[in-house]
Amino acid sequence: MGSPMEPLPASGAGPDVPDVREVSNILDVRGISVSRGEVPIVHEVTLGVAPGTVTVLLGANGAGKTTLLDGIAGLAKASAGTITLDGAELAGLPTYRRAQAGLGYAEQARTVFRTLTLEQNLLVSGDGDGDVAMVYRLFPELERRRSVPTGLLSGGEQQMLVLGRALIAAPKVVLIDEMSLGLAPVVVRRLMASVRDLTELGIAVLLVEQFANLALEIGTRAYVLRKGRIVYDGPCADLRGADDRLHEFYFGTVTETAGDTAAVAEGETS
Ligand SMILES: Nc1ncnc2c1ncn2[C@@H]1O[C@H](COP(=O)(O)OP(=O)(O)O)[C@@H](O)[C@H]1O
Ligand SMILES: [Mg+2]
Repeated sequence: MGSPMEPLPASGAGPDVPDVREVSNILDVRGISVSRGEVPIVHEVTLGVAPGTVTVLLGANGAGKTTLLDGIAGLAKASAGTITLDGAELAGLPTYRRAQAGLGYAEQARTVFRTLTLEQNLLVSGDGDGDVAMVYRLFPELERRRSVPTGLLSGGEQQMLVLGRALIAAPKVVLIDEMSLGLAPVVVRRLMASVRDLTELGIAVLLVEQFANLALEIGTRAYVLRKGRIVYDGPCADLRGADDRLHEFYFGTVTETAGDTAAVAEGETS
């Protein structure tokens, strides 16, 4: 693993992105629709996370990213489709069984127990037998603060702790939702480097992030969600620095998914 302070690699040609239908994905989501209460939010989404990679999920506020992750983790109801983790079917299982199967989830705006120390927070999440050492290897600064009440940690340290809690059971795949919310750019870069390091520990990542360009630097495959549907599925490299293009996928009418290049989404022409 590289030093945590190493700069991120310069953007450029990323690794080849295999076709989602041809590789065996560690996480394979097919045709899932997710509702909040009775309101359908996510419509027939198919996506894959290849082993050893960071897969980036982008989209405007309200596009349905958190709802999709909640559906994968079992916190929101998925009414159709399949969710396969390393060959095991997760759809229909309660959240804790999905976690046992190897799914970690660092939820958006997740809070920590402020009166417990940092290490107590980690131990609570691991049911006493989590891999605290692995979390400290990833975030050496957390080990130095292990006995500090969580309420006294900086925003960046708290977010590292939230990430650490999602990793404590040594998941195969971790879903990470907007970990950089409200943090300074230097802290965000530090967190991004850690996310990239996760893949070297054999943990694949599905990353939701508002700092799109930082996420695209560490990711291999990207998806863009608009109004609950995937409108881009392709290499991160093709979106890096392409702000206009990204804006078009966020708010426009263009759709570009595998096997469906540059189609205009039906019913959305203005
Ligand atoms: N608990 C909820 N009940 C009803 N609607 C919700 C709930 N949570 C989110 N929504 C709606 O679902 C849509 C998608 O929200 P969300 O998944 O949070 O999007 P994102 O994470 O992409 O910003 C939004 O229109 C939001 O208002
Ligand atoms: Mg969200």
